[in-house]
Amino acid sequence: MDRVEKDYVFHRDLKKEYPIITHGEGIYLFDDQGKKYLDACSGAVAANLGHGISSIGEAMAEQAKKAGFVHTMRFETPILHQLAEKIGKMAPEFVNKVYFTTGGSEANESAIKLARQYHRDAGKSQKHIVIGRWQSYHGNTMGSLSAGGDVKRRHAYTPNLLNYAHVYSPYCHRCPYGRESSDCVKNQNWTCISDLERTILELGPENVSAFIAEPIVGSQQGAVPPPPGYFEKVRGLCDRFDIVLIIDEVMTGFGRTGTNFATEQLGITPDILTFGKGVSAGYAPLAGMIVHDKLIEGLLENSDGKFMHGFTYSGHPVAVSAGLAALEIYEREAVLENVIEQGAYLLDRLMELKEKHPCIGNVRGRGLLLGIELVKDSKVDLLFKPSEKAAETINTIAMELGAVFYPGTGSIDGMNGEHLIISPPLNSKKQEIDEIVRILDEALTVFEQQLRKDEAYEIAK
Ligand SMILES: Cc1ncc(COP(=O)(O)O)c(C=O)c1O
Repeated sequence: MDRVEKDYVFHRDLKKEYPIITHGEGIYLFDDQGKKYLDACSGAVAANLGHGISSIGEAMAEQAKKAGFVHTMRFETPILHQLAEKIGKMAPEFVNKVYFTTGGSEANESAIKLARQYHRDAGKSQKHIVIGRWQSYHGNTMGSLSAGGDVKRRHAYTPNLLNYAHVYSPYCHRCPYGRESSDCVKNQNWTCISDLERTILELGPENVSAFIAEPIVGSQQGAVPPPPGYFEKVRGLCDRFDIVLIIDEVMTGFGRTGTNFATEQLGITPDILTFGKGVSAGYAPLAGMIVHDKLIEGLLENSDGKFMHGFTYSGHPVAVSAGLAALEIYEREAVLENVIEQGAYLLDRLMELKEKHPCIGNVRGRGLLLGIELVKDSKVDLLFKPSEKAAETINTIAMELGAVFYPGTGSIDGMNGEHLIISPPLNSKKQEIDEIVRILDEALTVFEQQLRKDEAYEIAK
């Protein structure tokens, strides 16, 4: 009762006490008790340049002094054009026009609506269904949640969700269809792809508007890359059935996986690419979508150039100034090269940990978006029960030891499957990577000791 009366914050978990962070510097955050946390997950894979960068703060202050807000229905700012040009030039060929939002959920919401309007105005008014993938996350607004396949986040709202369809995302380490990835690739015979084709045909291609997917599945699966060739097949189906392909790069965009966008590694061109998080390195709420010329031409021809959508804070000048300042640092500090170098090093070090710790079942990812699957015993492939909260427990131990990771659950089937994402800032140094691995190693050791103690207790009972 005390807490409700004295504390005005509606916390993520009302029963939990959170450390109060007073400041950050580089890869570290400091709380009001003087405790230091190594941010091994860049917050939520967002603070991609680390903390306390004064030049980004100064750029934001400068812009706030010049023009803190203009409404993009009436006015634009020079900085809006500068950032859009920078992002448009980084994006794949033919994907040029940048539309800003404040968060990734809004970005995906915008993409879903744009796909629908594009089809409707071209005379295909039945096209409205989005196909998403199970164990994928696209945001928490109703549309993006409907498109996503995060069972736990969806569950409470099932009656409110839109009637979108889902297929499995390929988690080849534990293929939901029981296939071997090498066999799919060798025989060019993909059950996940034929399932997508079957779903489209069953819904009727005339009803399907868009397919949405993360290039590397982030929070829901723990950094799972696609098998080679998968997205080319997806692109082929989208072309065949006139379906807008939305690639959600909210987590992977702006160098996280070693290229500006992970799409570059997929060998395809998306129709809409959504982004967020890393664009401002977490310094301001900024996200958006980059749109293929084909859709822009469609809007110009069939919709009088107007997208029936918009937010008060689209293209907010102060948020945009944070984006521009962050992208300049990515460039100036050659962050991409660092991601490739430190990503390879971290991957090797995690592989070493896998040899040492029976609770690591799998190590995967790209660049500095890496994940480990947590199992009870990798030798016999014994899984944790969801009630054991393995990922959350390991992260709690790690926080006590002074580092924070990104735990997740449900990677296998929405309920089972525990994982931890390791995604430090993209400018992390080798000794910081070593520090991450040292603390993770210690946290896993403490966790495994605890597990053995609990098991001995269970047997003795
Ligand atoms: C792939 C992906 N898409 C969308 C979102 C939603 O972004 P936001 O939380 O900024 O709305 C996230 C957030 O974690 C994400 O990882």
